[in-house]
Formats: sequence, C-alpha cells, structure tokens
Amino acid sequence: MPIDYSEAIPNNVNLAGDRRLQRALEQWRPGFLEWWREMGPMNSQHREVYLRTATSVDAQGWATFGYVKMPEYRWGIFLAEPEADRKIAFGAHRGDLAWNEVPGEYRGALRRLVVTQGDTEPASVEQQRHLGATCPSLYDLRNLFQVNVEEARHLWAMVYLLHAHFGRDGREEAEALLRRRSGNSDNPRILGAFNERTPDWLSYLMFTYFTDRDGKYQLASLAESGFDPLARTCRFMLTEEAHHMFVGETGVGRVVRRTCELMREHDTDAVGQYGGIDLKLLQKYLNFHYSVSLDLFGSELSTNAANYFTMGLKGRFNEESRDDDHRLNEARYAVERPIDGKIERREESALLALNENLRDSYAADCARGVARWNKIIQAAGIDFELVLPHRGFNRKIGDWSAIKVGPAGEIISEADWTARAGEWLPTTAEREFVGSLMRSVVAPGKFAGWIAPPARGINHQPLDFEYVRP
Ligand SMILES: [Fe+2]
Ligand SMILES: [Fe+2]
Repeated sequence: MPIDYSEAIPNNVNLAGDRRLQRALEQWRPGFLEWWREMGPMNSQHREVYLRTATSVDAQGWATFGYVKMPEYRWGIFLAEPEADRKIAFGAHRGDLAWNEVPGEYRGALRRLVVTQGDTEPASVEQQRHLGATCPSLYDLRNLFQVNVEEARHLWAMVYLLHAHFGRDGREEAEALLRRRSGNSDNPRILGAFNERTPDWLSYLMFTYFTDRDGKYQLASLAESGFDPLARTCRFMLTEEAHHMFVGETGVGRVVRRTCELMREHDTDAVGQYGGIDLKLLQKYLNFHYSVSLDLFGSELSTNAANYFTMGLKGRFNEESRDDDHRLNEARYAVERPIDGKIERREESALLALNENLRDSYAADCARGVARWNKIIQAAGIDFELVLPHRGFNRKIGDWSAIKVGPAGEIISEADWTARAGEWLPTTAEREFVGSLMRSVVAPGKFAGWIAPPARGINHQPLDFEYVRP
C-alpha cells in the first residue's frame, strides 16, 4: 500500500478508515509538535535539510530525498507489509497464528514492552539536541537531523500501537512519553543510558554505534513478536535504524582515520596538540559507551525475559534461524557472571538467560565494527588495537554491578577502581578537551580537523553539497 502524503498523518494503516483512532492521534499531534519545538534539535526550525522521507515500505526504493524544513517533516505511521498466515515462531504459542489484537492476559506485559521501547526514541533526540551548534560539517549535521527526525518517527510508531491497541491506558502512556525528559531528576527517561548526556560529537558517534545498536537488537527481537502489529512496526523501524548505525560506524572510523593521519604527519601518538583525538582516548570513549549500552539488555538471569518469550511477545535475535525447539523449557545456556567473588561460566536455564543471549549477539556484532576500525589503524602502519572491554567492566545493572572489573576482565577492589578508573574512562579534563575541539564547520565540503571526510556523500550527492541550508 503506497503512503498517501495528502493526509495529515501519512500512514499505510488505513487511518482514514478508523475515525476514532485518527482523531485520537490528531489530538496527540500538537503535543508532539510542542515537544519537538521544545526538545528537538536547537536552532533547526527554519533551516532546510536534505532529508529522506519514507514513501513506501518496499525494501526497494522506500524513501525519497529532498529539502525539508524540519518542523514540516511528515512524521507518519508505517508498518511493514503483513505476511499472510504468519505463525508465532517461539514460546508456548509456537505454531499458532500471530495475533492482530492484544491477547487480554498479556496486555500489561505488552504495554510495558511498547512503552519502554517508545521511551528511548524521544530520549535520544533530547540527548542530542544541542549538537547542531558544534557540527564538524554540513554532511554530519544533515545526518544528525536525519537520525533525529527518524527517532521522532519511531516515537510515532510506538504511540500508534498504544492508541490503536491499548485503549485509555495507551493514550495515557502516549502522553507520558511526551512528558518524561532525558536526565531530568523528577521525571527521567526509563532506561539509564538514555539519561546520560551526549555532550559532544565523539560521544554522539559512539552512541549511534553502540547504543543505536542496542536498539537494533531490541527491535529485532520485538520484530519476532506474536503480536503482529508490533512485529510489523519494528520490522520497518529496523530499515531506518540501519542508517543510524552507519553514522556511528563510519563516524568513529573517520575519527580513527584522522587520528592516524595526524600520527603519521607529526610522528607522535599525542595528536591532541594538533587538534586530534588520540587512540587511547578513543579507547576510553569506546569503553564508556559499550559498557553503558550492555546495561540496556538487563540482568543476566531474568524471569521477565523468560515470561516475554514464553508468552510469545519478544523472541530472540534471528529466532527462526535457530536450530532448537524455540520453547526452551529444558534448554541450557552458558552465562559468564560473578559468583561469590569469582568469575564463572555456568550453564543456566536458557529461558532465564535470554537477556544474556541477546547481549551475546550484540557483543559479537559490536566486535565486527571494532575490527573494521582496527583495519584502518593497521593500514596506516600503526601498532595499536582498539578492543571491547570485558562485559563486566563498568556495569551498573545485573550481577556485575555488585563488583568492580577492569577492562581485561580482572576483578579489582573498590579502592583500585577509584584509583584507576581514569585510565579506562574519559576523565573530566579529557572530556573538556574533546569539548574544546567541537567547533562548528558549516562551509560546504569542509570538515573539522578531528574527523576525516566520509568516503562519499548522501544519496550520490558530492561531499560539498549543501546538505543543510542556513
Ligand atoms: Fe529508534
Ligand atoms: Fe536509532
């Protein structure tokens, strides 16, 4: 079904055929626009941005590119095409037809999943709202704005589900999504990483690599859901999400490349004096963002996760390609965690260990990008390797939060941690230094000195294209 842009809320869910729902969403919309004005990208209201907008959910050619004033961006509701007779692939209802309505007994659990996912979307926009003032190039500014409008669309995606399927509670939750604020002590966002600051562009690029990737894994497991509208919503969100992680992977890669250039040019590791970010400092930022993102997967052993799976609400990553019974009542899964002051790997109930299962898929994916960054370093003839820290490092959630673990996986005392944390995580002075490099570069085709230009432009446009008009 093509998307009709003559409607106030573009959609492929036949909103015009459900007047009550349409009215409810139209009533939510002014609050959303007010939130965007108040918490969306700063000083962006009048600028024209070369953005992509979804025009269909077809994998081939699903978007068009053109200049848009961001408050006029057409946020819409797009679900991937339904699969005829889709069956639930896991849990107690495996083999049953997927549900088009919320099963009454799972209503609370499903609402919680939708709200938790929905809350992360506006949160990241809030975290990034001030970055436009210090963009390293128009190309990067455009990508930031693209990510921001799409995260806001993801909010729409979840709000649609709340309005369409959860009645009055859903409408209240949709309002609350506009009221919480990232980092606010009275009314914070739900998950920890989404209340951290994204103070500079290096943090932002790390965030899009590590934290948007958590989003990919959460969405992919919700895309398996037996509740078909949720599955279809998430499947289309994943299409958009790929660009966010592209921004992160290529962005960090470009910083690495620039650092290597400066190292070669000046024959030193200490590139800070030449306006670069040295590799050791990049490693510290990586340590921070990876560990904070690992927390998003929750406790190692979780009855909630087991219940979501058994209920058929949230599957595993690539559920259907797994070679097992997809019910996991008897299955075991190896989990590494601290037990009585020692790190042990034990076989646990696979059902209880589903968070860890997803975290393992995520960690393997993270490692692939790190390997690509290391290739850039190698190619420059530099002897240095970026590494993912041990999963127990700097954790605030789950069993690891009870102890202190160094990046190599060694248990250390609280005192050692306090003494050495500055070797592993960015210090205040280092964050200030990175902050001092952040100065806005807005001449088309020009890039800040701490980051290399990308290999190519957006949508076949040249690098000196005017991606954002003043
Ligand atoms: Fe998102
Ligand atoms: Fe994202």
